[in-house]
Amino acid sequence: MISQVLRDARKYEETAEKAVAAESRPGFHLSTRIGWMNDPNGFSFYNGEYHLFYQYNPYSSHWDTMHWGHAVSSDLLHWRYLPVALAPDMDYDKDGCFSGSAVTLPDGRHMLIYTGVEKEIRPDGSTCAIQRQCVAVGDGIDYEKYQGNPVLTENNLPEGGSKYDFRDPKIFQKTDGSYGCVVGNCDKDRDGRVLLFTSRDGFSWNFDRILAANHERFGKMWECPDFFELDGKQVVIVSPQEMMPQGFEYHNGNGTLCLIGKMDETTGEFVEEHNQSIDYGIDFYAPQTTLAPDGRRIMIGWMQNWDTCPVNSPERLWFGQMSLPRELSIKDGRLIQKPVKEIENLRRNKVSYKNITFTDVIQLDGIKGRKVDMELSIQPGNEQQIYHKFAVRFAQDGNYQTSVSFRPYEKIVKIDRKFSGSRQAVIHQRRSLVRTEGGKLKLRIILDRFSAEIFVNDGEHVLTVTMYTNQTADGISFFADGEVTMDIVKYDL
Ligand code: FRU
Repeated sequence: MISQVLRDARKYEETAEKAVAAESRPGFHLSTRIGWMNDPNGFSFYNGEYHLFYQYNPYSSHWDTMHWGHAVSSDLLHWRYLPVALAPDMDYDKDGCFSGSAVTLPDGRHMLIYTGVEKEIRPDGSTCAIQRQCVAVGDGIDYEKYQGNPVLTENNLPEGGSKYDFRDPKIFQKTDGSYGCVVGNCDKDRDGRVLLFTSRDGFSWNFDRILAANHERFGKMWECPDFFELDGKQVVIVSPQEMMPQGFEYHNGNGTLCLIGKMDETTGEFVEEHNQSIDYGIDFYAPQTTLAPDGRRIMIGWMQNWDTCPVNSPERLWFGQMSLPRELSIKDGRLIQKPVKEIENLRRNKVSYKNITFTDVIQLDGIKGRKVDMELSIQPGNEQQIYHKFAVRFAQDGNYQTSVSFRPYEKIVKIDRKFSGSRQAVIHQRRSLVRTEGGKLKLRIILDRFSAEIFVNDGEHVLTVTMYTNQTADGISFFADGEVTMDIVKYDL
């Protein structure tokens, strides 16, 4: 049975999306069908296609009562919208269907698990939102909410757990066919932690353990957890709120955290071995992963950040895009991210140069555009005298440019979008400490109209930014202070 609230949302998006011209969207990143998008939800491979849902307010380009938008793709790059999947139409989720995930049930149905939000009025008249986990089961288009919802409530919380910060369930199937689910939570001091629940059938759940706890190290509340095995290690991903920087890790505000460790076989505890930021740019939050049929672990994030949402042109009918799906691996104990290999099928018009040596600003014939995949290898022109600075500038014309620069002596890569047309006093630059020797660096830069994703040294560090620079600013140039020798291969996408 489809509720009136869902029917209205479906009707609305179908009409309203007609006002959005295809060229006013990203080319191969998923953007909201209309209105507002945040976190990726329910990222899964179901019935031969990737399904990606998202936090969605169709009615305006600002966050409000959350629905789940829905799109499908066979290659993670060409997306087709499906009708809104979930609407806030039950008592237990009337104030929002918050983030969650998906799994395929043994009978072939697709199960969504999400956070239902219900506001309550306190005796003093103030309101607070209770968060509980709910499920819905469907066929890849229509989903029916389970009669027994909510399936996880405050009664399932461990000692001191906050029922107001209990959200974003990420479900996974174990090898014995049963299910596990990690959920974000915090204690009474707002200190974040990841709770692990288990279930035989996905409907009835038990608290298992606190899988990972912050102990006041990385921000406060931990949102959007994920938990998976990768290259023989166990990985916990979370998006902590209110972070404080530690050196070049964990810039202030809403950040992303990756914990790599292993399970202690006797105690069943997750033992942390390494921690790092996931993205070192500006716009990346709430990532979620899925397993591709060929075994790749693929992650996609909201290509935005709560703190920088004001960087949005007022006339835009849509707000919010997803990052490029990224293939994950672990190398030398660190998380490595690479653009999904499917992107190679989009490459056209190859232009390449080898051993270009320069000492100032240069432009190269055929190197321009706003939908671009570009690989650069940089090294000193003179090994006795390493250059001081290299930069590549893009989305460039007489007035505008966004740049990635590299200072070999400091080992710093910096992204700077202050000349991207933004009129807001929000963060426009970010610096990342990278691994480099002798002035050598590899950069892969992917541009898609409104964003740049910079993969440093084959995915050891990634810096992601959105930019709303006018599309006519499509110049690309290179700068050297000192002598740089560069190889470059560039494709249009
Ligand atoms: C993260 C988040 C989630 C929540 C959702 C609400 O960006 O705050 O914790 O489920 O957004 O839209």
